[in-house]
Formats: sequence, structure tokens, C-alpha cells
Amino acid sequence: MRSALGMLRAIRLTTPLLVALVPVVFPTEAFSQNGTVTFTKDVAPILQENCVRCHRENSIAPMSLRTYEKAKPYAYLMKEMVSRRLMPPFHYDHDVGIQELKSDWRLSDEEIATIVAWVDGGALAGDPTDMPAQREFAPYNDWMLKGVLGREPDHVVESKPFTVPAEGGDLWWRPVVPVGVDRDRKVKAIETRPSFPDGTHVVHHAIPRLLLKNEKGEWEQAATFSEYAMGKVGEIIPKDAYRVLPKDGLIQWDAHYYPPGHEVKDDVVKVGFWFYEDDEAPKYTQDLKLYPLQGDIDLAPGGTAMTQGFFRWDHPVRLDAFQAHGHVHLHAMSAQAVYPDGKVELLSMVTNFSARWHHSYLYQDDAAPLLPTGTVLVVTGWYDNTAKNPLATDPGTWVARGSRTTDEMSHAWIAVSHLDEEGYQRIAEERKQRKVASTKEEGSR
Ligand code: HEC
Repeated sequence: MRSALGMLRAIRLTTPLLVALVPVVFPTEAFSQNGTVTFTKDVAPILQENCVRCHRENSIAPMSLRTYEKAKPYAYLMKEMVSRRLMPPFHYDHDVGIQELKSDWRLSDEEIATIVAWVDGGALAGDPTDMPAQREFAPYNDWMLKGVLGREPDHVVESKPFTVPAEGGDLWWRPVVPVGVDRDRKVKAIETRPSFPDGTHVVHHAIPRLLLKNEKGEWEQAATFSEYAMGKVGEIIPKDAYRVLPKDGLIQWDAHYYPPGHEVKDDVVKVGFWFYEDDEAPKYTQDLKLYPLQGDIDLAPGGTAMTQGFFRWDHPVRLDAFQAHGHVHLHAMSAQAVYPDGKVELLSMVTNFSARWHHSYLYQDDAAPLLPTGTVLVVTGWYDNTAKNPLATDPGTWVARGSRTTDEMSHAWIAVSHLDEEGYQRIAEERKQRKVASTKEEGSR
């Protein structure tokens, strides 16, 4: 007989909506033996570590969770949001697919259980001397990757200023600016960001694209660097791979704005590049591309839909990052590999996709899927135009494919390192050896 979990997974893959509605129950008995769960002793450390980065004064979240007084009124909502894994906003499934991710924001089961037990136990304050120190942060308008890479970007390119009117429909701003480097540079990390605080409220997404001259002397789109959308950190390229910022290129911005109710003057979006040193020699080129899902998205009032895209390469590849993209009706997206030997593997699943949060999920180096030549990558998107979808503005209307915020669209952004046969074999072998070494180490403990 199939296990309950197996059944749940099978259901989830066909109808993600159903599973999202099943309440998640965490046991609280474990805590009653160890005494009472309090804010200062048990909950504050979790909030400091995982929430106050956004939930503090002058940041992007609506309320601060720094103190008991501030957090207490949200106790029930916190229980609701963390137990459904909607907060922190990192909507990558925790029970299927590759779980080894870089910069993983997800709470552990124990942390969730602690918050739930605290709320169920009456959301008590606790002993003030148990309260952990307040975490300090760099100003929000700092580059997020500065914290990871330890320095400001080596090079920054800005868009041209754009004034967003108070009212009206969606707007696109596509200025072209020079790359501004004096020689071709190998890039190790990229971050695109809006201005703060105004830009974070009016920029839906912003994409810097590389234009290069083709043989006929016409400018042509050659690459996409990184996509900004709320919640995104940036792209870090694995150590053995790089992207190129060529001196002869231009950057074409594609910024999608929406009017916020008040005018925002001269907004600028910028992209920061961190370079490899000249003596570093990363081997493989990596690119970030948009992989479109095919077929019409026709959503009847109250309807649901599913579309897929199928992709293959004529050489081995490594997938370094996966990001679902859609608007308010996209509800879930998965990536599956169908290997040449017929084996099928679910690589990644985002069941509770939210158009408000665009994460690029970065696979850890030894977990990034290695796809031999001939593998087919299948990306599936599910859409929901029912009243159960809180983001669908008007479930009573038909929805079709389009690029306005209220239309629907869907694709995945995937960062791919392009390998050769020798590189593929070598990476696979090195991973195997590291695995053997770490198993031995564990065994000898
Ligand atoms: C990356 C930033 C970020 C992090 C990290 C984050 N939040 Fe949030 N949170 C937000 C934003 C922004 C909102 C506003 C709603 C939205 O945009 O989804 C929000 C909304 C909420 C709400 C709903 C508030 C309301 O009035 O509807 C709760 C509750 C919440 N967060 C709790 C938490 C908890 C608990 C954590 C940590 C375990 C956390 N959040 C981590 C950004 C964040």
C-alpha cells in the first residue's frame, strides 16, 4: 500500500491547491515537559534570526517584531503564517525535491512548533533577562550581496531616471545605457535593485539585458543578467563558472512600474557586478534565461489551468538556480528531469507560489542537478482563478496570457552552467568522492 506521505505527494503533483488547504498540525506536547514557552526565552531568538531583517522599523514589512509589545498583537497571525510556511517568504517545498539550497530562509519544524506552542500557551512574555540582544542591520539600501561577498560591487550600472505618475496602468521603461567597463570582465555575482524606499513600492520587476552587435552591425539581445523582483537577493555564480560583461556591450533595461497612488520622481534602478580577479580561471560559462511554458493560459471565471514547457540541450549542463515567475494566478510550479535512461526526478517544487515574492532558489554546489546530454527538463505551472486565490483581483472574469499585472504569464528563470563531457564526468566523480569522504567521517565519530 502506498504510504500517506506518498499519497500526499502524488496528490500535490496533480492538484497543488488541495494540499495547500490542508491545515498543518504540529505537536505541542514536547514543550509542556520542558516548562512554559515564553517570548523572551524561546520565540524572540527565532524572530531575531529569521524575521526582524524585514520586520523592523523602516524596512519592507508592515510591522516590527522586535519586542514583545510589538509582536504580541500578531501572535495568532504569526502562528498562521509560519505553520502554513508562508512566512518567512521562501515558498520552496520542504518535503519534495532537492532540499540543499543556499541562503535558505525556511524555518525548521522545531522553530515552527515553538511559535505554535507559544501562541497556544497564551503568548506569554517571560523573564525579561532571557531576552536576546537586538540584531543590528546594514541600512536597507545597501547591496544585499555585500553581506555575503564582503565588499561593494566592483561596477554599478544605472538606468535613466523615470517619473512614475500617481495614477494609471502599468508602465514599461526601457532605456539603453553603456556597459562602462574598459575590458571584458568575468562576473561572479550580480544584484539588481530598485531605489529605497520609493522604488520597492513601484517596481514590479527590473531586468538588465545585454545587447551586442551582430554581424550586420545591428544591436541584438545577447543575455539577461539578473531579474529584480521583491524578495530577491541576487545571483551568485558557482566558483567554477562565470558570466561575461563585455566592454563592447550595451545594457538595455526592462523595468515594469506600476503607479502607487502618489508620484515618484526620477526613479532609478541599478545593477551591481562583482568580478573575478584576472588570475582566477572559472571554466564554464553560465547563463540565466527565461524558459517559457507553452500553450494558452485561458482561465474561465472560477477556473484552473496547467501548462508545461520542455527543454533540452545538446551538451551536458548543470542547473544552478530555479525561479518560478507568474502573476497573481500562477499558484505552483515544478521542475522535473527526464533522464536519457527514462528515470524521472522531481528537482524542485514551489506549491505556494506568490507573485509578491520572486526568489531565485540557488542549489548548493553539490546538489545542483547535473543533466547529461539528452535529458529533458519539464517545467509545469498551475493556475488558479477561483475565489480561493486571495491574490486574484476578480475571479469573476476571464484571464488570458499577457504582460499586464492583471493578465497571466508564466515562465521559469533558470541559471545554467554549460559543461562538456569531460567536465560533467569530473564534477560527478568529485561529488561522489566528497560524499564517500563525508560518510566515512560520520562513521568514525
Ligand atoms: C524578506 C522579508 C520578510 C521576512 C524575512 C519575514 N517577513 Fe513577514 N512579511 C513581510 C512582508 C513584506 C509582509 C507583508 C505582506 C506580504 O507582502 O506578503 C509580511 C507579512 C507578515 C505577516 C502578516 C501581517 C499582516 O498584517 O497580514 C506576518 C504574521 C508575518 N509577516 C510574520 C513573519 C514572521 C513570524 C517571520 C519570521 C519567521 C517573517 N514574517 C519573516 C516580509 C518578511
